[in-house]
Amino acid sequence: MKRFFLMLFIAFAVTCFSACGKESDEKDEPGLLLGFSQIGSESAWRIGNTQDIEDAAEKSGINLMFENANQKQENQIAAIRKFIAYKVDVIAFSPIVEDGWDNVLEEAKDAGIPVILVDRDISTDKKGLTTCLIGADFYHEGYMAGEYLIRKVDGLGLEYVNIVEITGTVNSTPMRQRQAGFMDAISGDTRMTVLESIDGDFLKSRGAENMRYLLQTYGDTIDVFFSHNDEMTLGAIPEIEKAGFVPGKDMIIISIDGGQEAIDVLKQGKINCIVECTPKLGKLLMETALKLKNGESVMDTIHPEEQVFSDEMDTSQIAPRGY
Ligand code: AHR
Repeated sequence: MKRFFLMLFIAFAVTCFSACGKESDEKDEPGLLLGFSQIGSESAWRIGNTQDIEDAAEKSGINLMFENANQKQENQIAAIRKFIAYKVDVIAFSPIVEDGWDNVLEEAKDAGIPVILVDRDISTDKKGLTTCLIGADFYHEGYMAGEYLIRKVDGLGLEYVNIVEITGTVNSTPMRQRQAGFMDAISGDTRMTVLESIDGDFLKSRGAENMRYLLQTYGDTIDVFFSHNDEMTLGAIPEIEKAGFVPGKDMIIISIDGGQEAIDVLKQGKINCIVECTPKLGKLLMETALKLKNGESVMDTIHPEEQVFSDEMDTSQIAPRGY
């Protein structure tokens, strides 16, 4: 009988202990409120980036206060002010352009709220406005695009090539750095001439509109189309076809991002090269936000690893991209 009561007591104690354990696990949730201002929904990349950040927040038990700025800097500034008013623990944002953030970031600093830059950088003379940048090395992306072009031109034995470039949003980090990297890679090569560089704002419609204009202006003298993102590439390709040219053959096409739709077009041979820019920054963002909340130090810059997809490889082996 004694033994029975002992067993009963142990069973009760174990149940109680594990219940208490569960409760304390729940209490262990980080209790972190993260305010995030997204640029908008201009591309498959951006939509994939938003999804990835929302998923990562949910997985790590971080409360996300999400604001979509619909491509307007003033909306991003208003969102950051809202985060300050709500006293969030950490602010993160993807700045649409590099300039014009000093005042609002001074306000965040005065409120003692750390700020993480996601995807894009800012330009400022002031120190200590942000803690960390999590995003791609856009210069390297542009450089890899230029290196691919040199290899392609070598392989085809071309003596000269005329290039048209459709850029991303003027004064944004990817626009500035992709252009700089590409130009640095090709500028020592006397075969290369850039006929025109034109702003496409990372939008499919602007890719189409700009390609129509470039074809009307330069016709069959265009040998290469360098596009700062897949969205604009996908907008431009039907225009190239309508004008009677075969994309990927009559015109070498180089894009950046690597979303599924563009990878499928690469597989069809209508795009020659896509430099990857990964939108999957959510996990790194949550890890960094937690460190800041806990008063730990974080790295100044975190670049994810990226690769090049091109007609130099067996494209059938490219794994599904997930965005
Ligand atoms: O900042 C990253 C860029 O922004 C991506 O290349 C583009 O597709 C997006 O809109």
